[in-house]
Amino acid sequence: MPLFSTVTVWEGNPAHILEMVNFAVTERDLVVAIDGPVGVGKSTVAREVAARLGLHHLDTGAMYRAVALEAMRRFRDNSPDEDGLREIAATFQLELLPGGKVLLGGEDVTLAIRDEEVSRYVTHVADSRFVRQALVEEQQRIGRLRPSLVEGRDIGTVVFPHAACKIYLDGTPFERARRREDQLRQLNKTTDKRDVFRALLERDERDRKRPWGALRLASDAVVLDTTRYDLQTVVAIICSLVEANELFANHQREAHASTSGGR
Ligand code: DC
Repeated sequence: MPLFSTVTVWEGNPAHILEMVNFAVTERDLVVAIDGPVGVGKSTVAREVAARLGLHHLDTGAMYRAVALEAMRRFRDNSPDEDGLREIAATFQLELLPGGKVLLGGEDVTLAIRDEEVSRYVTHVADSRFVRQALVEEQQRIGRLRPSLVEGRDIGTVVFPHAACKIYLDGTPFERARRREDQLRQLNKTTDKRDVFRALLERDERDRKRPWGALRLASDAVVLDTTRYDLQTVVAIICSLVEANELFANHQREAHASTSGGR
């Protein structure tokens, strides 16, 4: 059902009227969109919020990483050309299993896609119009199957511009680099502070400047600074925001009514 059945005619900037009409006739998606730059703690926060609220968790970064791994293998680590990426976008076989397991052509690549080489290579793939188009369509299809939490860079702006709830996680480059170092150490990877910091700034630059699906703050997103709050506090704030959201609250009530036999 549309959110509003009537459109208020407002005498002002025609662009604003268009925006209002668009908003009035568009259904909101039962999606929590979480966007933000690298190293901001998105995946940890997303996993925990999704588990607490019973939402399906979709990590779109893992999808770009899997396609990057496929491209690395096909192009033997050389930079991919756009025709090659078009071919990959049309043929890759990706399965996302519960618990975050990722299968590429049937092979378990859950750990392989977290390699530093993949992290470096993935930006080529994420810049490709063909890859983005294929992945965005798939993300929209998956996200609409059931109430979902979708994390990435362009979720609130491109993939689900009508998400019921949008969060933008931010943090200083210094703090994000420190978290990234911790992650790498946990994976037993040797790290050099300056290399990690430099790589983070480069990925920020690519993420913010890519021609399609760039990292941008949606005008209706709530910004949470993860430098000021620890991740548990961030999780608690997001859960409260989602629980207070009218669309999610209605859905919860309906789901509860149907499981308790409408009583
Ligand atoms: O979140 P991550 O670091 O796993 O993402 C891997 C890469 O994919 C990163 O370079 C940005 C890109 N990405 C993207 O362009 N759009 C998304 N929705 C998610 C990730």
